[in-house]
Parts: sequence; structure tokens; C-alpha cells
Amino acid sequence: MSLPKSCDVVIIGAGAAGLMCALTAGQRGRDVLVLDHGKRPGRKILLSGGGRCNYTNMWAEASNYLSQNKHYCKSALSRFTQWDFQAMVDKHGIAWHEKTLGQLFCDNSSKDILDMLLAECNQPNINITSKVEISEVASRDEGGFTITTSMGTVQAQSLVIATGGLSFPTMGSTDFGYRIAKQFGHSIVATRPALVPFTLGKDDMARFANLSGISTEVIASCNGASFREALLFTHKGLSGPSILQVSSYWNHGDAITINWLPHINVEEWLQEQRTARPRAFLTSILAEHLPKRLATALADWIGEKGEASQWRKESVQNIITMLSECRLVPNGTEGYKKAEVTIGGVNTDELSSKTMASQKQDGLYFIGEVVDVTGWLGGFNFQWAWASGHCAGLFV
Ligand code: FDA
Repeated sequence: MSLPKSCDVVIIGAGAAGLMCALTAGQRGRDVLVLDHGKRPGRKILLSGGGRCNYTNMWAEASNYLSQNKHYCKSALSRFTQWDFQAMVDKHGIAWHEKTLGQLFCDNSSKDILDMLLAECNQPNINITSKVEISEVASRDEGGFTITTSMGTVQAQSLVIATGGLSFPTMGSTDFGYRIAKQFGHSIVATRPALVPFTLGKDDMARFANLSGISTEVIASCNGASFREALLFTHKGLSGPSILQVSSYWNHGDAITINWLPHINVEEWLQEQRTARPRAFLTSILAEHLPKRLATALADWIGEKGEASQWRKESVQNIITMLSECRLVPNGTEGYKKAEVTIGGVNTDELSSKTMASQKQDGLYFIGEVVDVTGWLGGFNFQWAWASGHCAGLFV
């Protein structure tokens, strides 16, 4: 199979952002070619949300995103909102539900979202080509950009980079977008895995031995950000939504703090327990509100062995601190292999927030995860992909 010799727009990357950009530009009558090296478009969409795609969030706004420039994402998010995407979902009759915290999921399958995008892209002027390797992008001249691929050479006036970040390499992630950005003079905000499980060192793992699989609601905090959601013990350390969320704020060497009992006032509750159950030990008191094995592990770590009535003042204070502000220092993360997203990316100071266009090279655009905009867990990353893809699609 060979490619057309020229078209108006080449989009590299047929993921969430690339497909949204293609359908928007296609609706404007632009001749669009989408190129992807994967076997099929939208592989991360299929995998997402445990197979049900958490496709947006009812409460999405700029404060749900991390970026060196916190204001950059505002314009796109306000010009293509969660409700605009929801209108498309409704137009296609896709069944959906709110799971929790405004997170909107498909009732049936992520495939519904991918099928919807592909149906919207089913226009004579949009060509989506998979299994194509891109070897070179030459500087733009009068003919536009010249893109050399395993299926031939194509010229385009506009080039959109939608190749995503480095997370989940099994889904075809590469550093292509960053390399093209550098080639055209852009700087890259340092990347690292985000929305990723933590690994713990030997001592912490020994403390939490046998807890793998246990989940409990906590408030996890790191560097000023706090999330009240589930924490899950794994055989390597910690995961679950609260942990994935704080991982985006974490740098090597930082501590995280855990409030194990976010739903009660720990100090008052301990006082009540000591009065009501003076002969009880810490483990059985903690087991009132925590899974039994976790109660035992925390009580062992705290080290108070006496009956409740005998606890000294300093010991009570230590128990309160350990339960409400327990400090842990992860020794790392499970890396890009297990990260949902990549933090950092193409520096937004060098991109237009209205069009996503490069300020270094006419006709060049960057959208989706390759840009230094990273959402919280909960549908925010797809919303950024839809919004940035749509906005670029209006101008390419
Ligand atoms: P995306 O990664 O989707 O697409 C990039 C495309 O570029 C891919 O098709 C890839 O093959 C292609 N490509 C890469 N390098 C190339 C090259 N050199 N040549 C050609 N093509 C190339 N978010 C959310 O909001 N809700 C959710 O439920 C989930 N769930 C989820 C689960 C899992 C397991 C992961 C890993 C991630 C999520 N996410 C998520 C995050 C979400 O998937 C992610 O933020 C978006 O897919 C980003 O969209 P992009 O289009 O920018 O990149």
C-alpha cells in the first residue's frame, strides 16, 4: 500500500488526540492523512478504564492538570469541554454512567468510544493508515513538510504531532514526538512516569508483608496535593487511586503522608475507645475501622503494646500522628511500564494555547500527552486529548 503524494494535513499518531484532530479537520473539508506505526488506531483507548474507558470527567477544569505553565490548558479546555465530548457520546447512543467523583465511563466497552471516533473519521477526505514507520520529517519548504515513511513520501502543509508520551511502551509509545520537537527547536520539560504505583524499600515491605491485595480508603498527600481515595497494597509497594494521584506530585526522595482514617476525628475516637474499652489493645481498637491485617501491621509498627488505659500521653500522640499523618518514603515507582501517563513534554511556552501551533515552526502542531499537560486520574487525560485535538483541528 502506498500513501498519497500530498495532502493538507498529516497527523502522526492515531490515538485519542490524533483521531479527534482528524475528525475536526475533516469536517472543515481538509484533506487529512493519519499515520500510526501500530497495528490499529486507538489502542490505549481500548485498554483504558479497565476496558470501559473513563472518557471524561464532569468536573474537568484547569486545576486538575499539572504543567509548568498552569494556565496553558485553560483555553482549549474551555473551547472543547467535557459536555462537548459528552454530546458526541450521546449522539452515537453510547450507554454511560458516572462511576464516582464525576468520572464518566462507558456501560459496555471502551470499543464504543473508539468506534465513535472512527465513525466520525469515516469521511472521504480522511485516510487513517496503520503499520507505517516514519523515518524522517524534513524542514518545511514551499511544498510543506516532507514526511518519509515505510510506505512512501508525503507532503503536507500542516503537520500535527500526536504521538503521546512514554508510558505503557507495550501500546506503541515512543519518544518520537519529543525528537521532532527538538528537531524544530523546541525545549522539553523533563519527563517522568506519573499515575504510577510506588515501590517500597525492604523495611517498609517487611512492615506491610502479607497485605498485598488489601484496599482501604485513605487521604494520601505529597508536596501540597491531597487525594481521598482507595489505597491498595501490592507485592511491590503501594497503588490504588489515591497513590496514583499523588505519584504525579512526587519526586525521588520525597515523603508521602497517609491518613489511614480519613472519615473520623482520630483524637476524639481514640479518647472514646480508651474510656469505653480500657483493657483493649491497639490492634483490636484499630480493627474497628481498618482491615484486620492492616490494623495488626500498623499496631506492630507503632509499637504500643499496653492496654488502652495505660497508654502514656506521648504514646497517644504518636498513635494519632501515625494514624493521621503516617510518613512513608517510597524508594521508586514501577516506571513507564506501569504508568498511565507521562508528566512533562513539549514546553507549552513555545506553543499557542489557542491553536496548539508551534511558535518555532509554521504549520507544526503538538497535541495530547506529548505536550507538558498532565491530568489527574479520572478521565482528565482523555479530556485534554479531545480538547487539544479539537482546537488544533480547527486551524490545521
Ligand atoms: P496516545 O498514546 O493515545 O496515542 C499516541 C499514538 O501515537 C499511538 O497510537 C501510538 O501508536 C502512536 N505513535 C507513537 N509513536 C509513534 C511513531 N514513532 N510513529 C507512528 N506512530 C506513533 N486516561 C483517561 O482519561 N481515562 C482513562 O480511563 C485512562 N486509562 C488509561 C489506562 C492505561 C492502561 C493507560 C496506559 C493510560 C490511560 N489513560 C486514561 C491515559 C490516556 O490513555 C492517555 O492520556 C491518552 O491516550 C493520550 O492520548 P494521545 O493521543 O496523546 O496519545
